[in-house]
Formats: sequence, structure tokens, C-alpha cells
Amino acid sequence: MKHIRRILDLQPEEAERLIYRGLELKRHLKKGFTHRPLVGKILALIFEKPSTRTRVSFEAAMMKLGGQTIFLSARDLQLARGEPLKDTARVLSRYVDGIVVRTFGQEVVEELAAHATVPVINGLSDRFHPCQVLSDLLTVVETGRRLNGLRVAWVGDGNNMANSWVEAAALFGFELRLACPEGYDPDPQVLEEARERGARINLFRDPREAVSGAEVVNTDVWASMGQEAEAEERRRIFQPFQVNAELLKHAAPGAIVLHCLPAHRGEEITEEVLEGPQSVVWDQSENKMWLHAAVLEWLLG
Ligand code: CP
Ligand code: NVA
Repeated sequence: MKHIRRILDLQPEEAERLIYRGLELKRHLKKGFTHRPLVGKILALIFEKPSTRTRVSFEAAMMKLGGQTIFLSARDLQLARGEPLKDTARVLSRYVDGIVVRTFGQEVVEELAAHATVPVINGLSDRFHPCQVLSDLLTVVETGRRLNGLRVAWVGDGNNMANSWVEAAALFGFELRLACPEGYDPDPQVLEEARERGARINLFRDPREAVSGAEVVNTDVWASMGQEAEAEERRRIFQPFQVNAELLKHAAPGAIVLHCLPAHRGEEITEEVLEGPQSVVWDQSENKMWLHAAVLEWLLG
């Protein structure tokens, strides 16, 4: 059974195919063509954290392809009353054709996948956000850039998004330069695995160094979902890691700025940069739907 628990669940050719298929579906369906390979298929979405983009883009993608969805907030399930994940996985597999899960621990995703007999897709955990990074790569490719030889910068927290960018660098071989405050680097195990695969990853403490010559500049919130209690301390620690116009001057001319959203203007990114000409964040959020369409067509089709 094929699952997407993390980027490294994919072979490079599979990930590349998803990106190009997502772009093809975007062109095709936006012209008004219909394509309904998922008629009769049902996708369940188990979300233990809030979501605007991931939930709606998965549901919309499923519906565009002719399928249907069942959204389950964790408190609606018997999971909330202690029913084991392995039982939930086996029961849901009898009803639906795929499961998207957004949760805290990556082990929840792993446990569901271990017992489900349908594909399980990680829609964000504390450790990874694989489909977000795949659709971000689709956005990069859409701007005419090649992943091969690309220099990508990550500025801010070494969080779930950063970990998935590290894995993407291992899969595709582009150069990734991260600037995180001390103590907030990406997961060491994720870094080690990526490096063992030959990934070109450099860690800096100075954001200007990380951004130097980068064609893609990426950031994310300073306090992720579940870290609300640390938000104030993080605001102080992360202040020098803001993506602003001054920092962007160090990037390659015409560099694009990515942010998976939701954004906190004035914290990790300024209003000027988020709404400025180098920001591609609105295309980036749209592209989640097209990448998800490619994922669903592949895994459920
Ligand atoms: N980028 C992203 O995953 O957004 P949501 O939290 O709104 O799904
Ligand atoms: N790192 C953020 C991503 C939100 C899409 C979080 O986990 O909250």
C-alpha cells in the first residue's frame, strides 16, 4: 500500500510525476475540461488541528475529480474516547478509499498507515508537511525554474515545513540553505538521513548568508500549531529572522518568496514582502489543490 507519510516515502520519479501531473491538471481543468477518474471514491479527512488550505484544497480536489469526502474532526471520532488508532485505521479502510490525516505526533500518521488498507496521506504533523512542500515545488517549477541546480533558502524555524524541505533537497538534489536560531534547527535525524542520501544542506545563523544568491526564499510562522505557549518567547528569539525587503536584497535578482500560510505580517514576514512583486504566495496556496488532485488521482484512481 502506497502512503505519503513524508517526502522520502516517494521515489524521485514519483514526486516529479506528481508535480508535472498537478500542473497538467491545472491547465486542463481550468480550461473547463472535466476529468472524473474518482467517481464512487471516498476520501476521509481526520483533522486534529485547524486548517483552511489543506482541508479545503483536498476536499475541492477530490470533488473536481468526481469523488466525495468525509471530514472528521478528531473529537467526532471514538478516537477521542480512546479507541486505538489501529482499530480506527482498519474500520475506516472498510468504508473509504483514502485517508488524509492532520495531527500532532508523526507516530499517529505512521500507526494509521501501518494498519490501514487504503492510502494514508500526511496533511501535516509536528514533524512533516510533505504535500505542502510538494506543491511548493510545483509552484517553483511553474515559475519556469528547474529544481536541478536550484538554490533554496529557508529562514526561521526548523519546523515541520523545514524538515520536509530537507527531505525534498535529498530527493531532488537542489541546494538548501537554512538560517534558524540556535536551538531551532531542523530535526537532527531528518538532517542526518538527508545528508546520508547526499543532500546539499547548509545551516547558518545569519539569514543573509542563507539567502545569499537564493532563487527561492521561504519562511513560515515562528510558533507552529501546538506551540502557542512559546509564542512570546519565540517572537523575541526569531526577530532577526524576519523576511523583509532588506534581507531580500541578498537573494538572487528576481528571487521568489514562498510562505505556506497562514502568515503573521510583521513577524516572520513583512506586509511589504508578502504583498510585493516577488511573493507568489497566492499561486502557492492555489497550487495545493492541483498537487492534491495529482496525489488523489494517483493513489485513489
Ligand atoms: N499551508 C497550510 O497547510 O495551511 P492550512 O493550515 O490552512 O491547511
Ligand atoms: N509550521 C506550521 C505550518 C502551518 C501550515 C504549523 O505547523 O503550524
